Order: sequence, then structure tokens, then C-alpha cells
Amino acid sequence: LSVSRAALLPPPGGPGDAAGQALPVESRPFASYGSALHIGLPQAPRAGQLVTLLIDYEAGEGPGVCWLSPEQTAGKQKPYMYTQGQAVLNRSFFPCFDTPSVKFTYSATVKVPEGFTAVMSATSWEKQKDNTFVFKMSQPIPSYLIALVVGDIVSADVGPRSRVWAEPCLIEAAKKEYDGVIEEFLVVGEKLFGPYVWGRYDILFMPPSFPFGGMENPCLTFVTPCLLAGDRSLVDVIIHEISHSWFGNLVTNATWGEFWLNEGFTMYAQRRISTEVYGLPYTCLEAATGRALLRQHMDATGEDHPLNKLRVVIEPGFCLFLGVNPDDTYNETPYEKGYCFVSYLAHLVGNQSKFDAFLQAYVNRFKFQSITADDTLEFFLEYFPELKEKGVDSIPGFEFDRWLNTPGWPPYLPDLSPGQQLMRPADELAELWAADSLNMEAIEAVDITGWRTYQLVYFLDQVLQKSPLPEGNVKRLSKMYPKISEAQNAELRLRWCQIVLKNNLEAEYSKVKDFLHSQGKQKYTLPLYRAMWGSSEATRALAMETFSATAPQLHINVQNYVKKILGLAGAE
Ligand code: BES
Ligand code: ZN
Repeated sequence: LSVSRAALLPPPGGPGDAAGQALPVESRPFASYGSALHIGLPQAPRAGQLVTLLIDYEAGEGPGVCWLSPEQTAGKQKPYMYTQGQAVLNRSFFPCFDTPSVKFTYSATVKVPEGFTAVMSATSWEKQKDNTFVFKMSQPIPSYLIALVVGDIVSADVGPRSRVWAEPCLIEAAKKEYDGVIEEFLVVGEKLFGPYVWGRYDILFMPPSFPFGGMENPCLTFVTPCLLAGDRSLVDVIIHEISHSWFGNLVTNATWGEFWLNEGFTMYAQRRISTEVYGLPYTCLEAATGRALLRQHMDATGEDHPLNKLRVVIEPGFCLFLGVNPDDTYNETPYEKGYCFVSYLAHLVGNQSKFDAFLQAYVNRFKFQSITADDTLEFFLEYFPELKEKGVDSIPGFEFDRWLNTPGWPPYLPDLSPGQQLMRPADELAELWAADSLNMEAIEAVDITGWRTYQLVYFLDQVLQKSPLPEGNVKRLSKMYPKISEAQNAELRLRWCQIVLKNNLEAEYSKVKDFLHSQGKQKYTLPLYRAMWGSSEATRALAMETFSATAPQLHINVQNYVKKILGLAGAE
């Protein structure tokens, strides 16, 4: 940000210069990921006194504000800009207390060029003359949830309080993907967790380089266009972002060191909604794929890695560049270990409806606030005094303190056996394909044509875990199941590419390249670069070639993480 002027405005309705009294402005060092804006007040304010500041500033090449050329959009006709605030990027979008512990309402007036539309994470918006849009968010939210998109975008209704937004060339597909399905998730969410306070729930399909599957900007979730699978198979991402409407957006982690409070509770809520809508077997299958991701993550980083704790130390401390950048803590631990801890709390209660009632009371108790895990756990023990009495917070091996502060594999795993009916065939098939001499008769007897996407995902995770398979097996597998090896579904493409790399299937390396050219989601991009870097000379060359061609279209954070993997960090 470049701040040109700050001024103290006179109290509303009172006398004084409307331009305000100019104040001294200074930028001071803070951390590697931002500096502190200091504004000198003429005198110390009294506690509770309303102080109104006017800050003139310009935002441009910040990591939070992304400017895309026409070629980087789906339609390739017009430029596009979007912001991504989480975790600590919005400080480059507007001056703010950029911490999740502070909540505020906001309004914004956005003037755009002719032929463009602006949308924001706001409870109301209005188009005025001169391509000017006025937005208002009437509920208090943390800074990271303010978001803006300006582009050639149009919308279509998909429910009584929901529409999809997308570039014109994608709007048909977007409407078809989610027409008539969103409302049910909202209704089930309200039944489980209490009122949906945000008014509308709209979904914006982002350009292919959007680095996340979804981002829970209130009233307007941003999603990757990879969700346009044509068969609603990736709708769990939508259910996840809807679940943030209660966990994260209403009850918010007060520090990024306890990100699991947002994501672990949201994973739990997502799977509760999924269980109500799609049943327990399917939800357990989806949860098993999540557990596989946690396994892969811990294997890759080492269980003892300090980031594999639910509570992570973020504070920059006295040394500026020593602290952990909150954006670097994005991994599977807060999600899936967090999910296990919330499941453990439910297991201690032992009764689903009682635990659901607790979750609703928890949201109601802490809505519009930012809290720590201590607040959560204290409330849990107060809500269930008989558990407090029993000392459930200090059962050896399962101490709450251990859950929070010890890295490694979760001490308790929820029972996913209700998903066995869907997982067993996939387990057995993976077993067959891992054999030294293939039993083709047994393999051909398994018909995967009717399998759900997540069964295939689960199968591929098993194959990946057993890889490298004996020579020749993967080649045959590829031939046998074009539904997998030629898949357009991003979750299948990711796993197939991982298998191709782990088995050195050179004939299909181009698929890795094509997939990385087609989208820039961080969770797809980094694992593939890690796999390429760790494999052979040939895959290293592939990595370099692919990165130099695609780097300009990747989000700046993703670019930097890839550079680290490829040993290019610090090159500039
Ligand atoms: N809030 C996250 C995305 C995020 C996390 C952005 C950290 C920036 C920093 C979002 O709710 C999320 O978790 N998305 C997942 C969805 C998945 C778990 C269903 C994703 O993008 O993969
Ligand atoms: Zn999330």
C-alpha cells in the first residue's frame, strides 16, 4: 500500500473541517509479510471514544490483489481482478487491523470501467449510474473475509437465496452444476447449527489460476472452476464453504495459530451436513480420502514437524524474520487432525444429537466473536459438566493439551467403517493391481463403471500408496480404465498424475504438464511439483519447463512455494 495522507475527522454532526486534521503517518518494520502503519493522534483517545480516520492510499501490486490479463481468464477477452485476503494478504488491499481477532462492518463504493461488473462479500449491493457499485456488509467480520472481484461476469439463479456468478462462457455449466442443490445444504446447516445470518449465499466461479478449491467469503463463496465436473461430484467443497457460515465466519479463530478452530470444526460440520444429505457410507468414504491426505502430508513432512500440531506458534517475536508466516501453515493438519479432535469431543459425548445441540449452543455463544481453543474447550466442559467432573480433559494419551500442542498423528480416529461397503471393493481392486503377476480374470470381474468419483479417488489413493507398482502394471491399468487415465475431473487428474510420476510412466508425463497448465490450485500444484522434483532427471526437467511456462499465471504465493520446491527461492 502506498498511504499518501491520514486525517482525523471531526465527530459526526459536530463542527470542524470535513477534510479533517492531517496526521503524521509512518511505516515501521513488522514482519517479512508486512509492515506496520503508524498514525499519530494529536492526543490519546479516551477508552470507548469514537475516533474517525480518513486514510488516502493506493493499492496495486500487492499479494492480496491479483490482476489477470485476458489470456488468464476463461473467456480470454477481458482482464479480471480479484482479491484473496486469507490469511494475511488483505493488508495489501486496504489499511486495516489485519488480524482475525478484530471484527468490523464495512461499506465500499467501487467504480469500474464500462463492460465490467464488481461483486464483493457483502450483505447488500446496488448498481448506480456511471458503472458504480455500492456494497455494504452489515455484520461484523474479520479483515480476511473482505473480497472484491471485477470482471466480465454474469449471474444465474440456482435457488431462492443463491445464484452462481461466472464469466459468460462458463455460466451455463455453472448453473447446470448447482441448480436446485444449494438450498438443501443451507436448510440442513440451519437445522444443525442455527440461523444462517448472511442473507444470500452466492457462488462465484473464479479464473483457473485461483489458488484454492473454495474460499468462504461471506455471502459470496469463491470457487475454482475445477468444480465444474458436470456431475456435481465435487460438491463437498461447496458444503465445506457453506459450513464456514457458522464455523469461521461467525465464530472465528482469534489467531492464525489456531486455524484448526476454523477448519477442523468446518470439516466436522461439512461431514454432518453430508451425512444428513448423502448418508453415512458416502460421508465416511469422503472422510477416508481426507485421512489419506493427512497420512501423505505427515509422511512428507515428518510427524514431528512443528506445523503438525493443532496450535502453531506464529508470533514474529523479537526477531523480524524468524516467525512463521500464517500463510505457510496451510496444510492438512488443521483440517483433518482438527476434524479428528472435534470427532473425539463428539465421541466423549457419545450421542450425536447432544453433540449437535452443543455445536449450536457454541455458535450461539460465540457468534460475531473471535476466540481461542481455550474458550472452545472451556465452553465444552461447562456445557457437559458430567464430562468435566470425569476429567475428560486429562485422560492419559488423550489430554486436550496433547491434542493441541503435540505434533503427530491424531490419538483418536473416528470410525469410518460405515463406509466399508464403498471402500472394500476399491481396496480389493488396488490389492489386485499391486500384485507381481496380475490376476486379470479377477480384475476384469470388477466393474467400476458405476463407481462414484470418491470411490475412484479412494482407489487411486490406495494405488498411489502401493506405488511404484511392479513393472508394467500401471501401463495396463491406464489402458484398462480410460475413465480414470483420461478423466477430466480434477481430483482424479491429480491422483492419476501422482501415480504417473511415482511409477515413472514417461508415456503419460504430458498429462502432468497439461493439468498444471489448466489450473493453478495450490493443493494440486505443490504435490505435483514435489513429486516431479523427487523423481528423476527427466521429471525435474519437466518441472522446470512447466513452471517457466505457467509461473506468470500462478498466484504469487503459489509461485513462491513452487520456487522453494525447485530450489529457485532467493534467486532474485
Ligand atoms: N478458507 C479455506 C481456504 C484458505 C485457507 C485460504 C487458508 C487461504 C488460507 C477454505 O475454506 C478451504 O478450506 N478450502 C478447501 C476446501 C476443501 C477442504 C473442501 C480447498 O481449497 O481445498
Ligand atoms: Zn475451509
